[in-house]
Amino acid sequence: MNNIFMIINDEPVNAQDARISAWDRAIYFGDGVYEVIQAYNGKLWAFDAHFARFKRSLHEIGIDNIDINQIKEKVLAGFEKANQPNALLYFHITRGIQPRLHTPADELKPQFLMFVKPAPDNSSIAKNGIKAISYPDIRWKRCDIKSLNLLANVMACNEAKIKNCDDAVFVSDNIVIEGTSSTFFAVIDSKLITRPLNHQVLPGITRGAILAIAKRLNIEFFEGETPLLQAYEAQELFLCGTGSEIRAIVELDGRQIGNGTPGKITRKITDYFINYTRTGGSFEELIKG
Ligand code: PDD
Repeated sequence: MNNIFMIINDEPVNAQDARISAWDRAIYFGDGVYEVIQAYNGKLWAFDAHFARFKRSLHEIGIDNIDINQIKEKVLAGFEKANQPNALLYFHITRGIQPRLHTPADELKPQFLMFVKPAPDNSSIAKNGIKAISYPDIRWKRCDIKSLNLLANVMACNEAKIKNCDDAVFVSDNIVIEGTSSTFFAVIDSKLITRPLNHQVLPGITRGAILAIAKRLNIEFFEGETPLLQAYEAQELFLCGTGSEIRAIVELDGRQIGNGTPGKITRKITDYFINYTRTGGSFEELIKG
């Protein structure tokens, strides 16, 4: 934990013995929202896009007594202080502190927490891919909000671990929805497919980057549904998200996908993404087209 830099509200704290109130509503209700941003070479990638989503999440759960620009400044200052150029930055806001009661009290003071830790080394997973299971999508009906409530996600990951797999994809009505912390993509007939955005999925920032890269690489893509049975037969499958970046699924529910290694199109997109993000390419430039 020595290399984790943490701030609670306005104070840098020692991550080892950081304390929050026992009455923080996040503990009882998961009453808050969060973001995760990756930093490449000292730059917080897609900073504005992450903040736009954060602002929306706050608004959707009715936390409106926040000056978002102040939070932005706090996050930027904290990131600078952390002095970790290639990092993962997490932050959340909870509704506030109050003895347990479902109905929020008036004028609660939102609680802020952020930490910065070194970015993971994804090179081995990028090369070899992961094994995943499917798991029933038992989540709530507003998965477009980046809520602190992640119990179903944790249950799915735990089940994957029990089955000696790395991650899970949620399935609803036999359709693959998304990963536990990532967007799901399939390659079928050499075309890239991912779900359209709606309340069932988080509007992934990395998803947007992947679609822009596909365009640059002249890879055909469309938004649509992938039934689980079709996913088993797909040429390629992959997950994408902040931190984990792009991970090919080479086995799903014990069935080999493609030839059991990251496929051609996944590798092409991964190579582009890795090179682009490591050489100073910006998200904003990328999605301009
Ligand atoms: N998760 N879908 C879900 C359910 C997620 O939790 C995430 C991100 C994504 C991908 O979003 P993005 O590309 O903007 O990171 C999709 C973060 C990284 C997490 O919970 O740690």
